[in-house]
Order: sequence, then structure tokens, then C-alpha cells
Amino acid sequence: MGSYRTEYRRSIDDPAGFWGEAAKGITWDREPTRILDDTNLPFYRWFADGEMNTCYNALDRHVEGGRGDQAAVIYDSPVTDTVRSYSYREMQDQVARFAGVLRGLGVDKGDTVVVYMPMVPEALVAMLACARIGAVHSVVFGGFAAHELALRINDAQPKVVVSASCGIERDRTIPYKPLLDAAIEEAKSKPERTVILQRSACLATMGERDVDWASAIAEAEPADCVPVKATDPLYILYTSGTTARPKGVVRDNGGHAVALHWSMSNIYDLAPGDVFWAASDVGWVVGHSYIVYAPLLAGCTTVIYEGKPVGTPDAGAFWRVIAQHGVKALFTAPTAFRAIKKEDPKGALLSDYDISGMKYLFLAGERLDPETYHWATDLLQIPVIDHWWQTETGWPIVANMMGLEALPIKAGSPTVPVPGYDIHVLDEEGENVPAGTEGAIAIKLPLPPCTLPTLWKDDERFVESYLTRYPGYYLTGDGGHLDEDGYLFVMGRTDDVINVAGHRLSTGALEEAVAGHPDVAECAVIGVNDTLKGQVPRGFVVLKAAVDRDPETIRRELVDRVREQVGAVASLREIDIVGGLPKTRSGKILRRTMRGIAEGRDEAVPSTIDDPAVLDAMRPVLRHEQG
Ligand code: COA
Ligand code: AMP
Repeated sequence: MGSYRTEYRRSIDDPAGFWGEAAKGITWDREPTRILDDTNLPFYRWFADGEMNTCYNALDRHVEGGRGDQAAVIYDSPVTDTVRSYSYREMQDQVARFAGVLRGLGVDKGDTVVVYMPMVPEALVAMLACARIGAVHSVVFGGFAAHELALRINDAQPKVVVSASCGIERDRTIPYKPLLDAAIEEAKSKPERTVILQRSACLATMGERDVDWASAIAEAEPADCVPVKATDPLYILYTSGTTARPKGVVRDNGGHAVALHWSMSNIYDLAPGDVFWAASDVGWVVGHSYIVYAPLLAGCTTVIYEGKPVGTPDAGAFWRVIAQHGVKALFTAPTAFRAIKKEDPKGALLSDYDISGMKYLFLAGERLDPETYHWATDLLQIPVIDHWWQTETGWPIVANMMGLEALPIKAGSPTVPVPGYDIHVLDEEGENVPAGTEGAIAIKLPLPPCTLPTLWKDDERFVESYLTRYPGYYLTGDGGHLDEDGYLFVMGRTDDVINVAGHRLSTGALEEAVAGHPDVAECAVIGVNDTLKGQVPRGFVVLKAAVDRDPETIRRELVDRVREQVGAVASLREIDIVGGLPKTRSGKILRRTMRGIAEGRDEAVPSTIDDPAVLDAMRPVLRHEQG
């Protein structure tokens, strides 16, 4: 470990020196002199007196620097049979115009805008247009239903919502407009206007509040980039916590641009002009950072893909995109590769395409199981790089840094801490555990640039959720261990967050939807292992005493209810009706014990259990042995 070790040590011993140097990769309106502001602990702020504009750094400076005709974005949409490329100049023009549309609708610096869109280039245009005028976007994943959208609208209080008439999932059209209207109806905070992109697959009926994207942008006066403080928020991205109320992760402008720009060459080994494809969704953090901002900040070409890895038209879809667009690095979730492996176990479809330009496969979003790692490595014969990160950090915490120094890969480990992250594995008392011993993964403060400075309008929840359990550390919510070589192994969440097909969900949100059914007395939802999706939720329901309706009907109603309230991505299909839920004497449901039994582990019965007979009665259900 040569250059890695040196750079890493420097980042920990002299964070201000390290990141002050990295900040030179960005064009500033006002160069920062206060690199790390620690005057208001436990809140750290990066580049506190710097001023810049993220959209300028992502688009305008490349046009000015001679990349105007280079492709900035390639939109590849097998579901609409479209491939279209947008140069940096075209993107700059579209974004400036849409920024003008937002201005015209009264959106100013500091105002919030919710973006609820499918995987279309206009989603990127809307995000960058907000950045251009200093507005704060909050993108909501299209797979969330009206209620989840309403929760986010209530918290972000947007002046405007930008949406589309529909999304397209495989061969199905999903009208977005009725979901948006229902969300606004439910929300207490009503946006003044909504801008709707009409897609020919399904036109939306427009109302008084609605503005048509195409006519508005055609008439708009282009708006210029507005300098903002490095510490001004660029976006809010809601993520699942342990309760049904999502957490509004705040990302500020300066630290985000500096860290993402640094990551492109040092972690992903990409240079300006290279083609990068993050097969995720703009609604998730991977989409924000590596579909939209990082590739553009680095002058690369980014691919936005509207489709699935399988069935569009076949499990060779990814190879076709890589070959056709000359993708140098692909980034996706392991579940996508498990899906391809399931349909094309020998990778026979790969022989139809020339993907020799692909140098790396990066995987994140969930644990990369060794079997999928070996399958992908054998098939592609290139480095398959697992890396671990969270919505809260916005970029990798632990990785094998291809640009800095490629280290030997160990299957099951995302490798070593990225510069800036001082990782510790702690026991209950907050002591470091020996190598090889499992514990809570925590990061010593300060966190590096790009990581969340707080939660949207909720400093208290930020401190309570992340900084209180181990004072002086950020609690990641993941458990795992370090080995003798300093490689980290991330084994899974230690809280009630689950990860379904790379989608982060709160069991609390699913429980809230189930508990709202009139026949349900109480319920618990846990995440259990799944060979394709990594995890899937399982629900356990106790009915009210007087209920004598058909259990099958109730189960169906509950599945529909979760889909309607949380969204199709929740994928809660398995629900068992049980006599009681195992609890501690203080009334806490023993979810972790239930999960262990469901996954076939020999779980010791906790000494705090209230009534062991309830757990005994549930064992066969958890193990699928009943009936
Ligand atoms: N809008 C509306 N509905 C959506 C949606 C969106 N943006 N995204 C997903 N859904 C729906 C799906 O259509 C599906 O509906 P169904 O139950 O009626 O079939 C449901 O939500 C579950 O979706 P998903 O979990 O994605 O399952 P899938 O079977 O459709 O696809 C994979 C499984 C593995 C192929 C897919 O999840 C995948 O490609 N994942 C890897 C990439 C990724 O997205 N990673 C995220 C973070 S890196
Ligand atoms: P999200 O905030 O949606 O990116 O989800 C973050 C969570 O996904 C983490 O807390 C982990 O539980 C999980 N995760 C992401 N990447 C990895 C990885 N490479 N290995 C193991 N778990 C991961």
C-alpha cells in the first residue's frame, strides 16, 4: 500500500491541507480560505467562506474549456426505443432555459423544488437548473407512492414540483400525474405550481396548477449561474431511517463538488471524455452522485438508462449499452448482476457484443456476496470493485481506489477506508474491537467533504440519529469487522433499515402501512435474505380479537395497502397472521431474534423476553414449517 497509505494518512493527519488541495479541482467564485470550520461543534462545515456554483462546474466550465461538442449525456431507453445524445452545449442551453422557467414560476435562491420523475434526461435538466439558480432540489424516487411523496413534500415545502406524465416499467406505463395529484391533495404544504413533462406513452390531464414542460421551456428566458456559498444546500435527499418518517439528508454545494470531482480520478480512474454509466436511478444517492453530478463535474459522458438489466429485451441489455456507447466503467448494484446471472448463467449473451473498452465494474448499494463477485469476475475478466457508502455520505466510505492505487481484492470486503474517513469498529462501550471481531461501524469526526452537514431543518434529529450513540463519532448503522490488513467487511444494518434490490427501505414505513388496516391489532416487518434481491420484507400480523374474515383476503388487502401507500418497490408479498409477537418485558418487538430464526440461524432467546411461549409458537412460521 504505497500511494494509498500516504494519501490516506495525510487526509487524517491534515484534513484541511488535504481537502484544500483537492478544492483546486473546482472553479470558485470566491476561493475558500477557511477549509474546515469547527467553531460550532458537533457541526463541521467545509470551505465555509468559499463561493461557487455547482451547475457552472458541471456544464459551463466545460463548454468554456472546449468540451461544448462532447456528449455530456447519453439517454438510452429500450422501453421507448430511444437513444439520444446531448452535448455539453445542448445541456447548458436546456438547463439555462429550464432555470429560466423555474425563475418565472417564482423560484429563487434557497427555495425548494421537488423532482418526481422517471429516468429521462429532463430529470437531470431539472436538477441542474435548480443548482444553477441556487434553488434546493429534492428528488423523490418514482417507485414511491403518493403517501411517501406527500411526506417528502410536507417536509421540503417546495414552491414547485417538477414531474412527468408517466414512467415506463418494462412493458407497463405507470401514470405519475394521478400519484402527484393525490400526494398534493394529502400534503399540508401545497406547491404553487407543477411543471409536467408530457410523454407520448401516456398524456396527463392538465389542471390549473400545471405548466407544460415543452411550452414553458420554449418560451423561457435563459438564466445564468448564481454564486452560492459552499455551505448552501444543493439538495435534500430523503432516505429511510428506523421510523416511518424519512430523513432529509442535506448536501451542500462546495464539499459535494470537491469530493465528487476528486473521486472520479482517484476512485473510479476516469478522465475527462471517458464514458461512465451508473445503472441506478436519479431518485437514489447513486443516481445523484454518479449519474448526474460526478461525471459532469469531471467532464465525462454519463449514460442515463431507462430500463432493467433483464427483459429489455434480454439479459444481454447491459452488454449492448456498454458496447454501443463505449462505456469505460459500469456502476450498479449486485442485485442487477444476480438478475443477469439468473437468466443467463453462463453469460452466453456477452459473446454478441464487444465490451473490450470496459475496464471496471463497480458495485454498491448492498453487500456484494462472494458468489456474485466470482461470477462477475470470471465472466468479465476485469476488476470487480465492491465499495460501501450511504445516502448520508454521498460518496464511497470504503473502496478499492483504482486511480490512486489498486489493492488486492478480497471477496466479501469493499477493501479499505477512502481518504477522509477514519473508520472504527466499536463495541457496546465504545471501545475498538480487535481485528476479526464484529461490532458497530463508526466514523471518527470530522467526516470528509460531501457528507451530510445535518438533516433538513432538524439539527436535533441529526445529532440524535448519528452523533449521540458514540460521542465524537458518526454512527453508520452498519455492522461488520476489520481484518488484520485493515480491510473492512460490512455485514449488514444493525437497525430497522432494509435493502431490497439495492433500494433502501424502512421497516417502520411498511409497518405503518400494515398497522393502518382496520383488522390489524399489531404487526412487525423484518428483512430476510433473498437470493435475487439481497433482502425482501416479511410481515407478521396479529389481528384484532373480533375479526373473523377470511385470512387470505386480509393478506391480499395488506399487500395492496403497502403497495398503494409506500410503493411497488416495497415488494412486501409475504405476510403471516400469527397469535402474538415476541417482545421484551418493556414491550419492544424482538425483530432481530425473529430475523435470525427466519434465516435459519440458531438464535439464543434473549434474557429480556417477556413470554418465551410466544416466540416458540412463532418459530415454525418463521421457518416456513407451519401447516
Ligand atoms: N417507478 C415505478 N415503479 C417502479 C420503479 C419506478 N421508478 N422502480 C421499480 N418499480 C416497481 C417495479 O416495476 C416492480 O413492480 P412489480 O412488483 O409490479 O413488478 C417493483 O417496483 C419492484 O421493483 P424492483 O425491486 O426493481 O424489482 P424488479 O423485479 O422489477 O427488478 C432488478 C429487479 C434486480 C432487475 C432491479 O431492481 C435492478 O435492476 N436493480 C439494480 C439497480 C438499482 O436500481 N440499484 C439501486 C441503487 S444502486
Ligand atoms: P443507501 O443509503 O440507499 O445508499 O443505502 C446504504 C446502505 O446500503 C448501507 O448502510 C449498507 O447497509 C448498504 N450498503 C451499501 N453499499 C454496500 C456495500 N458495498 N456492502 C455492504 N452494504 C452496503
